[in-house]
Amino acid sequence: MKNKNFYIENYGCQMNISDSDIITSILLNNGFFLSKNLEKSDIILLNACSIREKAEFTLKKRLEQLKFLKKKKRIWIGIIGCFSKTIKNFFIHQKIVDFFVKPDSYREIPNFIYSSMEGKQYFSTVKNNETYADISLINSNKQNHNKITTFLSITRGCNNMCTFCIVPFTRGRERSRDPYSIIKECKRLYQNGYKEITLLGQNVDSYVWEEKNEENKPKKPKNIVEFSKLLDLIAQEVPFMRIRFSTSNPHDMSNEVLKVISKHENICKHIHLPVQSGSNKILKLMNRKYTREKYLLLVKQIKDIIPECSISHDIISGFCNENEEDHQDTINLMNEIKYNYGYMFSYSPRPGTYAYRKLKDNVPEHIKKNRLREIIDLQRNHSFYRMQEHLGKIEEVLIEGVSKKNNQYWYGRNTQNLVVVFPKESLNIGDISYVKIIDTTSATLIGKPYK
Ligand code: 5AD
Ligand code: SF4
Repeated sequence: MKNKNFYIENYGCQMNISDSDIITSILLNNGFFLSKNLEKSDIILLNACSIREKAEFTLKKRLEQLKFLKKKKRIWIGIIGCFSKTIKNFFIHQKIVDFFVKPDSYREIPNFIYSSMEGKQYFSTVKNNETYADISLINSNKQNHNKITTFLSITRGCNNMCTFCIVPFTRGRERSRDPYSIIKECKRLYQNGYKEITLLGQNVDSYVWEEKNEENKPKKPKNIVEFSKLLDLIAQEVPFMRIRFSTSNPHDMSNEVLKVISKHENICKHIHLPVQSGSNKILKLMNRKYTREKYLLLVKQIKDIIPECSISHDIISGFCNENEEDHQDTINLMNEIKYNYGYMFSYSPRPGTYAYRKLKDNVPEHIKKNRLREIIDLQRNHSFYRMQEHLGKIEEVLIEGVSKKNNQYWYGRNTQNLVVVFPKESLNIGDISYVKIIDTTSATLIGKPYK
């Protein structure tokens, strides 16, 4: 059969990249071919993200462009992954999208493609038990020569119901992949040349898996694996693989996890710990299940147990009912912690969420933007401050590629997930290099090879 070239574009987070690798594996095993040229592809898959309004807007714009391509030649377009009802309703009656596939139905994509070739429009429903445990990841990005670092999902979905967040609606209830298949996949990836794996989940710290008997009842004696145990096992089973994980919900992070991180050299010393707001009033409205005080205590525990650990954050500015005092609480918290880096957003209501239905989006747009600006500027200062701590140190850097700004320099990251550039010498991509840090910007460490 002809018409078998497919092309995938990502519109979201690390989880989307990992999902594209799952989809690529499924399609290659069903006789399709991965294409790196959109113009020459028959099937175009847009791996959507609906977490913020902006990502959806970019997707809509992309589909407008693809409309012209579709007029020129017969192609099949699928929106897959985290798309909202709004996107589905917007495109369902336009003749651009042939099929919609939710995150738990990727195995059905080949059938959806065939059906849409027969002129039917398809969309999958939400399921809740898929972990894709038997799928071996295949790099979906042919342009990406970095076959050194990769992502691996260990949990899917989320049970937390933060009031601003659409994820529980697009990705369903949380479930954990079995540890044996995770370890097997880590070993396979290592044998295939990967040097770093980031374990992914909306909330990795709530990973929990329990062995069941033939009747699907808990086995006796019980065999339960929690996140700390999983990390410990992986670190031992692939001792030369660097291990990262994301994202940690402050509510669920345990001291056991911190101890495991400090115990193993191959577990990177970085924790992404979204705080979202520094105000207890706003945290409550967001249904985040911790207070400012508990969060600060956790940061202290991290620094006590893993002194060299870097910490990054997500912050939302201008959530419902946020006043100047709440905003200042966030600023003060940032000043207290001085994060290494962070991701900062202004609040956009997402249809279907609790906040969209029950709370008023009552912070004027210009105030949201001003507060966001202040947060971003402050973070830049803090990042610069934290970067200075690395001056003069010798750091272990995994070389990921050539620096975009200067092809005479390597680009890599240290254990704290900070970007390091340094002059190329005899090493190669995938090697670990020892680098002395001699200068910094707020985003990059600049070094020279240390011998
Ligand atoms: N508006 C703005 N930011 C959001 N995020 C999630 N939902 C929204 C929203 N409705 C941010 C949170 C989350 C990150 C992945 O995206 O900070 O941690
Ligand atoms: Fe969304 Fe909260 Fe789950 Fe993160 S923890 S995916 S913010 S509901």
